[in-house]
Amino acid sequence: MRKIAVIGTGYVGLVSGAGLSDFGNEVICADINEKKIELLKQGEIPIFEPGLKELVDRNVTAGRLSFTRDIDRVIKDSEVIFLAVWTPMSENGEADLSAVKEVSKTIGKNLNGYKIICTKSTVPVGTGAMIREIIENHQNDHVEFDVVSNPEFLREGAAVRDFLWPDRVVIGTESQKAMNIMREIYRPLFINETPMILTDIPTAETIKYASNAFLAVKISYINEIANLCDEIGADVHIVAKAMGLDGRISPKFLHPGPGYGGSCFPKDTHALLHIGESAGIDLNVVNAAVKTNINQRHRVIQKITQLFDEKPKGKTVAILGLTFKPDTDDVRESPAIEIIQWLLKKGVSVQAYDPQGIDNMKEKFPEVSYMESTEDAVRGADLVVILTDWHEFRAMDIGRVSQLVNQKILLDTRNILNPVDLKRYNFRFDNVGRPNVK
Ligand code: UGA
Repeated sequence: MRKIAVIGTGYVGLVSGAGLSDFGNEVICADINEKKIELLKQGEIPIFEPGLKELVDRNVTAGRLSFTRDIDRVIKDSEVIFLAVWTPMSENGEADLSAVKEVSKTIGKNLNGYKIICTKSTVPVGTGAMIREIIENHQNDHVEFDVVSNPEFLREGAAVRDFLWPDRVVIGTESQKAMNIMREIYRPLFINETPMILTDIPTAETIKYASNAFLAVKISYINEIANLCDEIGADVHIVAKAMGLDGRISPKFLHPGPGYGGSCFPKDTHALLHIGESAGIDLNVVNAAVKTNINQRHRVIQKITQLFDEKPKGKTVAILGLTFKPDTDDVRESPAIEIIQWLLKKGVSVQAYDPQGIDNMKEKFPEVSYMESTEDAVRGADLVVILTDWHEFRAMDIGRVSQLVNQKILLDTRNILNPVDLKRYNFRFDNVGRPNVK
């Protein structure tokens, strides 16, 4: 088994590092963030990700996983260096590669023998070549190394499962030597017959963007169909179910809602549009998916306005769900951000509850009243808006909610509540694409 360094302990780096150590490799996760490394050394996990603590604990105890801030040292000590640093969206929508460039320089300066430099972060086509050039320019002595692209397909909230039991593993490199070492690192998955796509770097880099953008397109498509259903009296759930039964379509990612969020789809669709632009190729479908997603947030605002008969000022809204999806504490690009922003601008008081996302949202909106439970959030509310499909909201006691609210008005943007219950308790309500069940 191989000695591996993972640079960057965000959710991709941490899950990948822990997962690779679970495959039997010796892994050191490194980060410049002192606070994060200290927490990890004390056995605490800086993010909420189901199953991650158990995975980390198991491998730390087995002596295969450790944490450090000494990036120079881990580079020198490892055979394979995974880059899992962040690649946020820059102002013009392009991926910001400054962290990747910085780490590449450090790798160049510390290269003391043959190593593989492997990107896990989502990076535009051509980044592999850029990394090679930076390392070559910063090397003191000429040392052989290979660059590999090994994109991740982890979903927040299900990242541990996605790493240990992936649908596929993509490895891109032009070097047979590097490919052999990568196969060794992922040996348990080869034994399990997990599909492996062994290819070149530009193809591997493109696979990641093409996959994320396709899923974003699928969501925007079903959101548009839901909006159409709203107007023409069809039920989008039955439409999606019937569509999904066609094996060519598949039922996944056909769930309508307030539009996709998170640290990946919004950023990666914009980055792909940039890649297309640079290559002189129109990516019209991706462009439309991005526009539809922006529009979907406006649809939610429109629905809130209608439920308030155009007069939101002075009202109290209970927001249930702050994270961009359930089972995470991540609020990046969450629909809740735009909705809360709009409500506050309109003079609405917002009281919000989320099982994990409150701390992260507090930083953005200190003026919101954050509550400790659904009951506290809905108490005295003139409108309840569900924005995230947490299980605990699915199981909500509508009868109890009806006793606590000031007005029985509810917007379910995830279509998780049973309309029969809402009707029984005389709620005036709206959802996404189900006009017949209002
Ligand atoms: C996404 C991809 O699913 C992962 O494969 C990929 O590795 C990851 O991005 C990444 O690039 O790092 P993630 O952003 O964690 O994962 O979450 P998803 O489960 O894909 O959900 C993204 C957004 O789409 C959420 O806001 C979710 O609520 C929304 N969504 C998803 C829908 O509105 N409808 C659906 O049917 C599915």
